[in-house]
Amino acid sequence: MQRTKIVDINKTMPKFQEEKTLIIIKPDALQRNLLGEIIGRFEKKGLKIAGLKMIQLEDILLDEHYVHHKDKPFFKSLKNFMKSSPVAVMALSGLNAVSAVRIIVGPTKGYEADAGSIRGDFSISGQANIVHASDSPKAAEAEIKRFFKTEELFDYKKVDFEFVYGEEEREN
Ligand code: CMP
Repeated sequence: MQRTKIVDINKTMPKFQEEKTLIIIKPDALQRNLLGEIIGRFEKKGLKIAGLKMIQLEDILLDEHYVHHKDKPFFKSLKNFMKSSPVAVMALSGLNAVSAVRIIVGPTKGYEADAGSIRGDFSISGQANIVHASDSPKAAEAEIKRFFKTEELFDYKKVDFEFVYGEEEREN
């Protein structure tokens, strides 16, 4: 899988534009004591936690969230899995957060994911794959609205901003 992008060093770095993405830390991660490990990976990357809470998922929310899978043979078992214990939901923000998080998470099937990614390190399953991450900025916007009320999202300055981003990226 070719992922490396060739960077044109003559171009300036992209300006910092805050983008948000949604993560669901799934029941398998909670049961396997991986919550801290997973949150830590996102924190260490430099992503800012804009929202974080535990919830018990139910049919109404899952039917909406996984509507594109509703005709798949695994839909019922996916919902049963997602309801099997509480989950943690997170809204993360940062530069190109949606794609940066998808790289950290790895592809859907744990057995196909590279070592070093969350799924590559902790999952060998197509379903029990530790986390869900939004797949586009448009999906992220809808998913954050689905799981968080406005007052549950926090906009604050992080003291490490100056060191997480370069000068040009910060001038926005
Ligand atoms: P997620 O990124 O949350 O998006 C849909 C989820 O469906 C996926 O992660 C898996 O948990 C699950 N899933 C995808 N493909 C299959 C499959 N073939 N069988 C069972 N579950 C699946």
